[in-house]
Amino acid sequence: MNAIELLKKQHREVDALFKRFEKAKTDDQREAIFLEVASRLVAHDAIEREIFYPACERALGENEEVMEGIAEHGLIEFSVFRADKAKNKAPFEYLVKVLAEMVQHHVEEEEHEVLPKMEKKLSDAQLERLGSKMLERFELAMSKDFHSPLRDNLMQVLAGRSKTRAPKRTARTTAPRRAKSTRSRAGAGAQAKRSARGGRAARH
Ligand SMILES: [Fe+2]
Ligand SMILES: [Fe+2]
Repeated sequence: MNAIELLKKQHREVDALFKRFEKAKTDDQREAIFLEVASRLVAHDAIEREIFYPACERALGENEEVMEGIAEHGLIEFSVFRADKAKNKAPFEYLVKVLAEMVQHHVEEEEHEVLPKMEKKLSDAQLERLGSKMLERFELAMSKDFHSPLRDNLMQVLAGRSKTRAPKRTARTTAPRRAKSTRSRAGAGAQAKRSARGGRAARH
């Protein structure tokens, strides 16, 4: 399956589950829907974090959209964890609402900024291969309970592991650095001229 189509399909499935959650009438229904959302989000995170985002970094380089997406995954996982702990207690519905809003924001950015770039950059065959790998990993994740991978991922986030690392250069940081390096190149040029003059003077 094409990687882009797979991700969009999973986004729509989670969106439909959040809508069902809003309409649910009983605590049992809300809990069952939330558990389905949680396991789908953790499995979706696994295929993006382990397969899709590394492929993005290889194809597009470390750009701001990719790094922002990775950082948002950590926040989404934290929201899943909090809602799971609060199941059917007073703040549960609000925590799920916040989770739904975060996921919606993240999906919009992913679909408008990251996915179109990958669709342009990779061939159909590459997208198919990537999608098959992701689907296989998704099915494996869905066959297991989500709590343990969720905790492991959160521990990585808290430890500041690679998925939260900052890009080497961003648009915001290159401008001052370039200005500095231009100054230092100018300084180096002046120094070289002084040395050359000094050298000529020494030869005379
Ligand atoms: Fe996604
Ligand atoms: Fe994502």
